[in-house]
Amino acid sequence: MSELWLDSCVRSGRRLATVAAFGVCALLAAPAPAQQPPVGNAQQGKIIGYTCLGCHGIEGYRNAYPDYAVPRLRGQSVTYLVTALQEYRDGQRAYPTMHLQALSLSAQQMADVAAYLGGKPVTAKPVPAAAVPAAAQVCASCHGSNGIGVAPMYPTLAGQHESYLIRVLHEYQSGYRQNPIMSGIAHSLTNAQIRIVAAYFSHLKPGLHTVPRPYTRWSGR
Ligand code: HEC
Ligand code: HEC
Repeated sequence: MSELWLDSCVRSGRRLATVAAFGVCALLAAPAPAQQPPVGNAQQGKIIGYTCLGCHGIEGYRNAYPDYAVPRLRGQSVTYLVTALQEYRDGQRAYPTMHLQALSLSAQQMADVAAYLGGKPVTAKPVPAAAVPAAAQVCASCHGSNGIGVAPMYPTLAGQHESYLIRVLHEYQSGYRQNPIMSGIAHSLTNAQIRIVAAYFSHLKPGLHTVPRPYTRWSGR
């Protein structure tokens, strides 16, 4: 069913204002809005997101045991950020702190905080195939030769912390993170290949950034 049809439905509904025409349209159109994910409001997200910046708003902040850098979120696909939060909430990702953070958020709050933290998605020119290391070529079909996800469901890897990319690929291998696509791909990688792809994607520019923290008395400026 095309959007055009629905659009004309709505317009003819308004124009004719006949109960019959509008009724049929409303019946057919009704399921669509229910399936729409909530639209994020970055201003609202900024309020919720304040607590997130305790980890995600400090450049170079690291997770202890195991030691790796907390992921950069600014410039990330907002759709992907929402998916990631749902996965922490529902247990496909086992990281305990993020599980608790995600559990406390409604669907609307997830959309809001993702819109705030992600901001404007980063864009970049494609990288010529010859410049992409062999181990990273298979990744490019989803994560882009330039490390920018080719569709909103694919995370951007460009500029992400190298230690985080290595950690996460091991999480997919161990089952600590479960994803039908990435688990299979991660299993096919050797440790040497993981180091190569992590180095390649983390060094690409333009890329992701740490969310800047608003001025507080803790920010030391
Ligand atoms: C105590 C530190 C801490 C706090 C507070 C925190 N996070 Fe995280 N976050 C992490 C770590 C560490 C990871 C990576 C976990 C893993 O290995 O999956 C992460 C991962 C994420 C990811 C996945 C990113 C990706 O590239 O897949 C998202 C999205 C996220 N956090 C959002 C949030 C939001 C929203 C909040 C606030 C409501 C928040 N975080 C609060 C430490 C934190
Ligand atoms: C068919 C598409 C596809 C291919 C090919 C692919 N990925 Fe992914 N990748 C995804 C999807 C989808 C996700 C999100 C999974 C999730 O929600 O946990 C993802 C997630 C990731 C993440 C987690 C990002 C984050 O911010 O936490 C990393 C790292 C990653 N992929 C690396 C790679 C590497 C390296 C390759 C090549 C060896 C690769 N991927 C190939 C689809 C793909």
